[in-house]
Amino acid sequence: MRFDILTIFPNIFDSYLNESILKRAQKAGLVEFQIHDLRRFTKDKHKTTDDRPYGGGPGMVMKVEPIYSALKSLAALPPKKSRSHGVILLTPQGRIFSQAEAKRLIKFKRLTLICGHYEGFDERIRDYVDEQISIGDYVLTGGELPAMVIVDAISRLIPGVLGDADSSKDESFSKDQKTLEYPHYTRPENFLGQRVPKILLSGNHAQIAAWRNKHLRKKPT
Ligand code: ADE
Repeated sequence: MRFDILTIFPNIFDSYLNESILKRAQKAGLVEFQIHDLRRFTKDKHKTTDDRPYGGGPGMVMKVEPIYSALKSLAALPPKKSRSHGVILLTPQGRIFSQAEAKRLIKFKRLTLICGHYEGFDERIRDYVDEQISIGDYVLTGGELPAMVIVDAISRLIPGVLGDADSSKDESFSKDQKTLEYPHYTRPENFLGQRVPKILLSGNHAQIAAWRNKHLRKKPT
């Protein structure tokens, strides 16, 4: 799966996407991340990506032209865009992201994510995107963290990305949105008097499965 991320802060992505699981997934050719600096798509000498709002008011607004040009260069503009290529605008006004959304989005071959800043986007950019997504009911300084959250949540669902093929299937999020996982333990067996439940040391897989099932924790409300 290929992700293109449009941002005015491309360096933000360097460390997160190039560590650990996502680094390995890229090396294995399972995911590809292309980070595009929106300033490259500006035409003025100051490389302006934002401007004052018409009608006045506080703050600055992301300009439509650099984003449009970037989408054009990625063949991401309608109507030519293929159905397997989705364009997502990251905005607190969007639909709330969830595990179910991650599963839906994995069906795309390509996703292009647009990160905003300041007071928001020039309204006209909304005509060129397929979806508007928020990662929660709070306002961040930019769309970069939301982009990383979404890319991470989708990437780990791609077969082969997680080391152990079962580790994303087994999660209770996938089975039932209302439950969380069973409790996990690793060494030591005794930590300051807190002992690992004996059943987990028994080697009896049927009993372990029953114990885990019984101890599935409910999502906090
Ligand atoms: N940009 C700023 N805040 C955001 C949020 N909560 N979700 C997506 N994009 C954002």
